[in-house]
Amino acid sequence: MSAEVNAKRVTTRDIRARKGAEPVVVLTAYTAPMAKILDPHVDILLVGDSLGMVVYGMETTLAVTLDMMINHGCAVMRGSRQAMVVVDLPFASYQESKEQAFRNAARVMAETGCGAVKLEGGREMADTIRFLVDRGIPVMAHIGLKPQAVHAAGGFRAQGRLDAEAAQIRDDALAVDQAGAFSVVVEGTVEPVARALSAEISIPTIGIGASPACDGQVLVIDDVLGVFSDFTPKFVKRYADLSAPISQAAATYAAEVKSRAFPGPEHCFGMPKAPKS
Ligand code: KIV
Repeated sequence: MSAEVNAKRVTTRDIRARKGAEPVVVLTAYTAPMAKILDPHVDILLVGDSLGMVVYGMETTLAVTLDMMINHGCAVMRGSRQAMVVVDLPFASYQESKEQAFRNAARVMAETGCGAVKLEGGREMADTIRFLVDRGIPVMAHIGLKPQAVHAAGGFRAQGRLDAEAAQIRDDALAVDQAGAFSVVVEGTVEPVARALSAEISIPTIGIGASPACDGQVLVIDDVLGVFSDFTPKFVKRYADLSAPISQAAATYAAEVKSRAFPGPEHCFGMPKAPKS
């Protein structure tokens, strides 16, 4: 059931204290082995609903379920020791009512042992954020480009170019801050807006495609490693291109299986030793 709670993990208090100090480092993680590799390097491991696209090959995040998030949340908790683990609430698991949001967020917290949940929305979600926070559930908000609202927004495009849009995002930032979120992801938002709202609010802004003016940065790990190649958004920096060595390893394995070079005697049990010559 619940993963073990490690008292030494990064806390929401630690993250809040980073405002105006050291940038907050966040990467997504979906599996235990990847969480283990990333854990020493980040403040937060985000089990994002991007896993629908990155791990499951879906076109959007809309079909991701609460059970999927809980399973991957448990895996990331098992693989990590020091980072705070934040688990996304998937589409349709929190928008209906504050009570629905609490029920599902409580399941995520109880079954994974994670440190907080993330949900998409600004002013329209402020009452829900307040409801969760007042009942002991730390919330990371997510404003600007909101992938769960991709159809309503007419596609994935940078936010805040129009004055009305910029004003809306700044208002969203203020609303989630006042509602008690401990940090807010700002996605796909033009630099002047990200800069202004980061200066205006009291909690750390975690940018993705929202400029260095944010108080921290998050990227999707498969983008960073170059293993998710369906498309590369402008704001992604690839720090490695692992698809080539993975493909090469698979090709070499296939060739060795076909030629019977693998498995060798060193990989076998009970194989007679070759006579000494
Ligand atoms: O789902 C996700 O991985 C996210 C990040 C990209 C911020 O929300």
